[in-house]
Amino acid sequence: MTDSNIPTARLGGDGPEVGVQGLGCMGMSWAYGPVDTDASRATLERALELGVTLYDTADAYGAGDNERFLAPFFQAHRDEVVIATKFALSSPPDAPFRRIIRNDAPYIRESVEASLRRLGVDVIDLYYMHRRDVNVPIEETVGVMADLVREGKVKHLGLSEVTGDELRAARTVHPIAAVQSEWSLFSRDIEAGVVPAARELGVALVPYSPLGRGFLTGAVTGTDTLAADDFRHRQPRFTGDNAAANAALLDPVRTLVEAHDATLGQIALAWVQQRAQVHGLPVVPIPGTRKPARVEENTAATRIVLTDAELSLLEPIAEKVAGDRYADMTFTSAGRE
Ligand SMILES: NC(=O)c1ccc[n+]([C@@H]2O[C@H](COP(=O)([O-])OP(=O)(O)OC[C@H]3O[C@@H](n4cnc5c(N)ncnc54)[C@H](OP(=O)(O)O)[C@@H]3O)[C@@H](O)[C@H]2O)c1
Repeated sequence: MTDSNIPTARLGGDGPEVGVQGLGCMGMSWAYGPVDTDASRATLERALELGVTLYDTADAYGAGDNERFLAPFFQAHRDEVVIATKFALSSPPDAPFRRIIRNDAPYIRESVEASLRRLGVDVIDLYYMHRRDVNVPIEETVGVMADLVREGKVKHLGLSEVTGDELRAARTVHPIAAVQSEWSLFSRDIEAGVVPAARELGVALVPYSPLGRGFLTGAVTGTDTLAADDFRHRQPRFTGDNAAANAALLDPVRTLVEAHDATLGQIALAWVQQRAQVHGLPVVPIPGTRKPARVEENTAATRIVLTDAELSLLEPIAEKVAGDRYADMTFTSAGRE
């Protein structure tokens, strides 16, 4: 039974109805320092009690480890959870942060079978193309994904880090429930092309890294305290002079903390959620955490409503951010717009 106390939203015209905040599960196995499986399991259970139903993973997170870790939780709660996973990215075993991108039919077919096997389920609720391989026409890739829907292996389709034009082309082949892209107080490039296209086509936005990979909580505003293998050592916003410059950008966020009896992270999440009203489309952010107390804090942000004046105060932050969101921006839709 879920003690549902967060509102819900529908992903796309005929997509699933989900809690308006999902849970990013990547850090439970990969990218952000040492894993803590007991705390992560407790986080998953607590999230479900709080009404979180959309759980986000990918085959690339720890080369299948994240899907394997989540499998028992998904199987125990199969009818209560919406499982979102992704294909397209892999890494050589000796270089876990080097990316190989593939969108071709044999690769997709192999990937979906491997994800289903690791997850231990017979259907994936939301299957995303994680990154765009520009050597394969997007209509061809979505055509294969649409076949997976017809074959009953996948229920709904999603795309991550696509441009507005790529989304429009994809939609000519099959309905798309959601676009997953980075969207936060620090990362707003998708507002130019992707968000208007999604609104026009009735596609939901699933913002990833809504807490700026932790930066917007004030808990990690540099790399000094991070483990050697933490992915953020490679993120331009966390390193060198950029880190101090970006930490100063949290000041206006800090001014709202007291008025809302909230934390920095909650203000950052409230801002992302309110993109739904500002831009007129469903928005379901997927903050990532491995700690039950933080999932309580993050879901409580769904109850915060920022005034127009407060939103205006936060408006200038993104354009002042120092450093790109990835070291290699060809890895993003903004790199192709
Ligand atoms: N499609 C894509 O290309 C893509 C890319 C990146 C991520 N994603 C997905 O999006 C999800 C979320 O993004 P993300 O994990 O990169 O970034 P995020 O949600 O912006 O931030 C996650 C970081 O913030 C920390 N955190 C979370 N809640 C906190 C709180 N209340 N107070 C202080 N710190 C807090 C987490 O640490 P703890 O875990 O220690 O709490 C973690 O280090 C991922 O899990 C993944 O599923 C997708």
